Amino acid sequence: MANPSLLILPGDGIGPEVMAEVRRVIDWFGANKGLTFDVSEDLVGGASYDKHGTPLTDAAMAKAQEVDAVLLGAVGGPKYDDLDFSVKPERGLLRLRKEMDLFSNLRPAQCFDALADFSSLKHDIVAGLDIMIVRELTSGVYFGEPRGIHKEGNERVGINTQRYTESEIARVSRSAFELARKRSNKVCSMEKANVMESGVLWRDVVQEIHDAEYPDVELSHMYADNGAMQLVRAPKQFDVIVTDNLFGDILSDCAAMLTGSLGMLPSASLGLPMANGRPKALYEPVHGSAPDITGQGKANPIACILSFAMALRYSFDEGDNADLLEGAVQQVLADGARTADLMGPEGGTPISTTEMGDAILAALD
Ligand code: NAI
Ligand code: MG
Repeated sequence: MANPSLLILPGDGIGPEVMAEVRRVIDWFGANKGLTFDVSEDLVGGASYDKHGTPLTDAAMAKAQEVDAVLLGAVGGPKYDDLDFSVKPERGLLRLRKEMDLFSNLRPAQCFDALADFSSLKHDIVAGLDIMIVRELTSGVYFGEPRGIHKEGNERVGINTQRYTESEIARVSRSAFELARKRSNKVCSMEKANVMESGVLWRDVVQEIHDAEYPDVELSHMYADNGAMQLVRAPKQFDVIVTDNLFGDILSDCAAMLTGSLGMLPSASLGLPMANGRPKALYEPVHGSAPDITGQGKANPIACILSFAMALRYSFDEGDNADLLEGAVQQVLADGARTADLMGPEGGTPISTTEMGDAILAALD
C-alpha cells in the first residue's frame, strides 16, 4: 500500500518555526514506528502572496484536495494588513476550508496536569479535563442570507440570518457521534431551541440521527447559554459537545482557555470521507502567526505538534501513536520544560522552540 500523504503549509510568522519541529516529529515516527508519510510542502498566506501574488495557488489547492491530510502553520501578519481583501493571507485559509468543505471543526480542551495551576479556574475543576467541541464551520449565521446593513426610514438596520439545512445538521452530528465512539461515548448538543426555530430543527435532527444510527452513544441537549455556564462551572461533565458555527466559535474559545496558553491548542477541520474512507482534513494550531515573537525562537511548537497528533488519530487511525505523542508532551511539561508563553508569575528560564522540540523527541525516545 502507498504511504499516507501529507501536505505541509507552514505559512507566515511563527508558522515555519513551529512546523520545523513537527517535521522532526514526523521523521521520528518514520524512523521508529515504521510510520512513513509522503510529505510535500507548499506556500500559503503571505508567503504565497509574496511569491505568486495570491494567498493560495490553484496548484496548492489541487494538492490539498488530493492528499490524505493537510497540516497548516499560521497565516497573516502586519506586512499584509493593507492588502486588498481578495488577496489577504486569511483568504488562503478560507479557500482551503471552503473548497475542501470542512464543515466539522474539532477543538479539544485538554488540561495537561503540569499546567492545571495555569488555568484561571481552580485546580480541581480543570485537572484531568479532556473535552472536545465540535463546531459546525461552513454554514449558520456567518453565511446565511439575507445579510447586510440597510436603511429603514431614518435609521440603519443590520441583518444576519441563522440558516441550517437538515443535511448540514446531520453531517456535523454524525461527525460528533463518530468522535464520541472513539472517546467516552457521550455527546451533548447545544443550541437555543427555546427561542430559535433553527435551534428546534437542530435539536430534532441531532436526535433523529442519534436514534437511527448511533443509539449506543449517550446524547443530551442543552441550551447554549446554560452550556457556557456549565463549561466554567463543571467542565468535566462533558465529553463531546456539538454545536453550530456561532455558538461553537464562542464556546470553543471559552473551553480552550480553561486550559492555559494559546501555544498549546490544536484543532482539526474535517469534511466528508474521501474514496479511501479518510475524511478530508486540515489540522492547524489555534494560534495565529504571532508577529510579536516571530524569528526569536520563542514560539511554543506544542499546538502544532498536537495538531499532528490529531491527524494521527482522526485521519490515520493511529490512536496509539497519537497517545504516545500526547504522552510525550505531558511528560516534558511534567519535567518542567516551558517555553516563554508558559512561564508563570514565579518566573524561571524559558526554553526555545527548538529546545522544546528536542525535549519532546527525547521523551518519545
Ligand atoms: P496570535 O495567535 O498570532 O498571537 C496572540 C498572542 O499569543 C501573541 O502575543 C503571540 O505572541 C502569542 N502566541 C500565539 N501563538 C503562540 C505560540 N505558539 N507560542 C507562544 N506564543 C504564542 O494572534 P494575533 O496577534 O491576534 O494575530 C497575529 C496574526 O495572525 C494576524 O495577522 C492574524 O490575522 C493572524 N491569525 C491567523 C490565524 C490562523 O492562521 N489560523 C488565527 C489567528 C490569527
Ligand atoms: Mg474565534
